[in-house]
Formats: sequence, C-alpha cells, structure tokens
Amino acid sequence: MLDDETFPAAAEEALANSGIDSSRLDIEQIKRIIGPLPATQMNNRLMRSQQEMKWRRITATLDEQRESLQAELDEFASRHPQGLELDPDFVRPDYTNVHFHLQPGGYYKHPLAGVRYHYGTKVFFRGDNDKDQLHRKLVEHTPSPADGQVKRVLDLACSVGQSTTALKAKYPDAQVWGIDHSAPMLKAAHRRAVLLESEVTFSQRLAEATRFGDAEFDLVFAFILFHELPQRIIAETVREAARVLRPGGLFAVYDFCDSASMSPLEIYHRDFDARHNGEAYSQDFCDMDFAALLADSGFGPIDVGLAGGYVKRWFATRAEE
Ligand SMILES: C[S@@+](CC[C@H](N)C(=O)[O-])C[C@H]1O[C@@H](n2cnc3c(N)ncnc32)[C@H](O)[C@@H]1O
Repeated sequence: MLDDETFPAAAEEALANSGIDSSRLDIEQIKRIIGPLPATQMNNRLMRSQQEMKWRRITATLDEQRESLQAELDEFASRHPQGLELDPDFVRPDYTNVHFHLQPGGYYKHPLAGVRYHYGTKVFFRGDNDKDQLHRKLVEHTPSPADGQVKRVLDLACSVGQSTTALKAKYPDAQVWGIDHSAPMLKAAHRRAVLLESEVTFSQRLAEATRFGDAEFDLVFAFILFHELPQRIIAETVREAARVLRPGGLFAVYDFCDSASMSPLEIYHRDFDARHNGEAYSQDFCDMDFAALLADSGFGPIDVGLAGGYVKRWFATRAEE
C-alpha cells in the first residue's frame, strides 16, 4: 500500500544507501538514485493525475454555471466600478503565457480564470484557504516599517486579492492596492472585496512596471510571485519595488526556499514540480541568491527566515538614499 510516508521513506533509504554525502548531491544524481524506485514512479503518477483530475472536475463544475458566474462578475464590476481598474489596451508579455499548476487556460485566458484559481487553491491548501486563513496569517506575521507609518500598501500579483483584503484589515486607514496582469483574476478579486466590504483598489498592471510614482508606498507585499517569473523579470520587479517604496518602507516577500536550503527530497520535488506541474521558472528562482539581489537593488537591512514548509520570507527595508 502507498501512503504519505511510503515515497519519502523509500527515497530517504535509497539516498542513505547511495553512500554519497547528501549535501553534495546535485539534481541529476538525486534523480538517478530516487527516480527508478517504484514508490517514486507511483508517487509521481499520482501527483500528476490528481492535479489533472482536480482541474477537470473544477472546470467542469464551474463551466456548468459559466454564464451566471460571468454575469455576476460583470455585474459587480459595473455596479461597483470604484475599486477595479481594467486596462482594455493592456499588453501582456509573452513570458506570462504558462499554464502554472496545469490550470487549464492558465491565469488569464479564460473569463473564469480567477474563480477557477480560487477553487483550485482551496483544494491545494486543504482547508487553509477557505476563509483566507493562510493570507491573514502571513499578513499578521509581516512587520510594519520600523517607523510604523503605513499609509499606502501595494500587493504585487494579488491574484484573487486574499492578501490585499487581509492587508486592508490590518491597516484600515491605509490606501491598499492589489495589482495583477490578469483581468479575470482582478474581477474575481474585486467581487470578493465588495462582498467583504473591503475598500481596496485592484488594478491591471505589471509587477515589473507598475506605473506608480517614486516612493509612493510604505509597504509592498508579494506572496508566491517570484518563483513564477523568469530571472530577468525577477530583477526588474525587485528594482521596481525599490523604486515605488519610500526610504524606510518595507518589502515583504514570501516565496519558495532556495535550493541551497533544501533537502535532496525537496530538490527532487522542486524539479518534478518544474517539469510536470507547469512551474516553468521556479528552478531559476530557487537557484538564485534573492537576498543578494535585494541588497544590490537598494534594500537593507534584509531579514531572511523560514516561514514554514517550503516557504521562505524576506523582510527588506528600502535603504535611505
Ligand atoms: C501564484 S499567483 C500569486 C498568488 C497571490 N499573490 C496570492 O496571494 O494568492 C501568481 C499571480 O501572479 C500574477 N502575475 C504573474 N506575473 C505577473 C506580473 N509580471 N505582473 C503582475 N501580475 C503577475 C498572475 O496573474 C497570478 O495571479
């Protein structure tokens, strides 16, 4: 029988029996040791199949209500136009055309992409996402800038706006923006926020070219964005965050751990995720020194720590000029 422990136990045993110091193993060696095990192959097949089944079921169920759900999103957008800025001339860069986590149509090609994503993450986070628990926890865990001044907050790549509304709840007097390139994500985010009576603004903009002015924000927040960007865009986005933050403002980033702090099994999983779960760019992010990039882009001090599981956090203060 294959349970949650079978694959990790078999993989750890094979790694130990290889006789190679695990801290020296590279991904090709790890794949050669773990890949052929029956438990690995069964695990991989199940991972891929359950992801495909999840999306098949979610899209089928939502597609049955497609017309009414789309009409509802449109109605919220026209009845509460404040709080939603969509750009009819928006030009989306090619690198965004990836079906992350195998979501059919990806993040923007289907009008219900935001609704699909929200249901998909509810399944993925196994209950931790039903009432925004995860996002609220991360926002609570995030410090304010050292001087305590928080008047304007930017949530980069907000998807359906769960951290955006959590940030507004934490800073009720602040002006809070959530930006994303995907209009269907923003429409779903806007509907949620209206229902929650959360007065935030969602706007269709690129994280690396936000069109905001210099030093306009006190806090910039980004949860699991960077591992979905190519390296050039990661660097541009960090520089953009530095530009829109005032000196002393805080850039709070939560994202995947770097390969150097992963166990061989986690490295194997990351590689599998990149190749078979639509995470086209995650290896680039995990292989880079993100703290060094922050330091080179005008941030310091930078507080780096683990946020739990695979997630690491960087709290980077915009250095004084
Ligand atoms: C994994 S989700 C981020 C999750 C989100 N921060 C949350 O808290 O649920 C990635 C999101 O980033 C958006 N995105 C990706 N690249 C972007 C970019 N360059 N500019 C703006 N949004 C981007 C996608 O449309 C998608 O909604």
